[in-house]
Amino acid sequence: MGKLDGRVAIVTGSGRGIGAGVARLLAREGASVVVADLGVNLDGSNPDSSPAQQVVKDITDSGGKAVANNGDVADFQAAEGLIRQAIDSFGKLDVVVNVAGILRDRMVFNMTEQEWDAVVRVHMKGTFNTAHHASAYWREQRNPEGHFRLINFTSVSGLHGAPGQPNYAAAKMGIVGFTYSCANALGRYGVTANAISPGAATRMTESVPEERRRSAQAGDERAPENVAPAVAYLASEASDWCTGQVISARGYEIGLYNKPQMLSQIVSDGPWELDKAFDMIERSFRPLVGGAGYPSGQQGGQSR
Ligand SMILES: NC(=O)c1ccc[n+]([C@@H]2O[C@H](COP(=O)([O-])OP(=O)(O)OC[C@H]3O[C@@H](n4cnc5c(N)ncnc54)[C@H](O)[C@@H]3O)[C@@H](O)[C@H]2O)c1
Repeated sequence: MGKLDGRVAIVTGSGRGIGAGVARLLAREGASVVVADLGVNLDGSNPDSSPAQQVVKDITDSGGKAVANNGDVADFQAAEGLIRQAIDSFGKLDVVVNVAGILRDRMVFNMTEQEWDAVVRVHMKGTFNTAHHASAYWREQRNPEGHFRLINFTSVSGLHGAPGQPNYAAAKMGIVGFTYSCANALGRYGVTANAISPGAATRMTESVPEERRRSAQAGDERAPENVAPAVAYLASEASDWCTGQVISARGYEIGLYNKPQMLSQIVSDGPWELDKAFDMIERSFRPLVGGAGYPSGQQGGQSR
């Protein structure tokens, strides 16, 4: 018995990297999987159908069920076709995992409009496109006990603010807000919505020297397959209780992020008198903010 027997899942960006690890594990656990990947370079150029086909071949050679889709998730109609393909191929759709992504890194003052648009398009619009068409289908099912799952991918780049990735950081935090909104909107239709913040050695992290060094030291621990168990849990029927959360999955660690909460509040009887506002903002908030601009204690430690 697999943990996902009878489930039908779409995994975007599953021709390589983390997505491929997710697709393989879901299939091994009994899910029928649409391996959706445009097969592009890291910057989104040069589409190629072979990565998705290869993952489908690996899955079917080992006795699993999978079909390939080579559409662009950022194309609204192509995303509709992707949802339709899952239903036509396997009779229904239970899970959408939005992994597809690209990078065009540059400091904010050097970034071109095209670099901004391309990254926001694939991550944010791509995530919206599949979620839109899937949620319309889930709503039509009229099944509040449906165990339907929307699983989006965010990043520490947004959660912590990577200085050289303003487009990507913005898109990935946009995905967090979108996930919170979907969790609040879709619960009544039997859908949970969560985000994964992954960490793994892939071509995406190879472009960052610090990450490359960390991966070389970590060896197998940074394998992209290590992200997949947390996704499999969220994709399973066991995770009904979990919605509107950001889960970190990197190496051998799985973590739960908090939601932004008010740390401190100052209140005036009426419109703020400016000298008083300056004084009280400094006195109340400054001690809570560390040197790096993070509230003290928020960067956290870790325990094993
Ligand atoms: N690797 C990490 O440590 C890390 C860290 C944080 C977040 N992430 C996120 O995890 C996800 C997977 O990253 P990865 O490291 O496996 O990257 P990857 O480059 O290895 O894989 C991304 C895949 O998405 C596909 N893709 C890109 N644009 C597409 C489009 N428009 N339509 C369909 N498919 C498209 C690519 O062809 C590629 O196969 C991404 O969303 C990424 O932003 C990764």
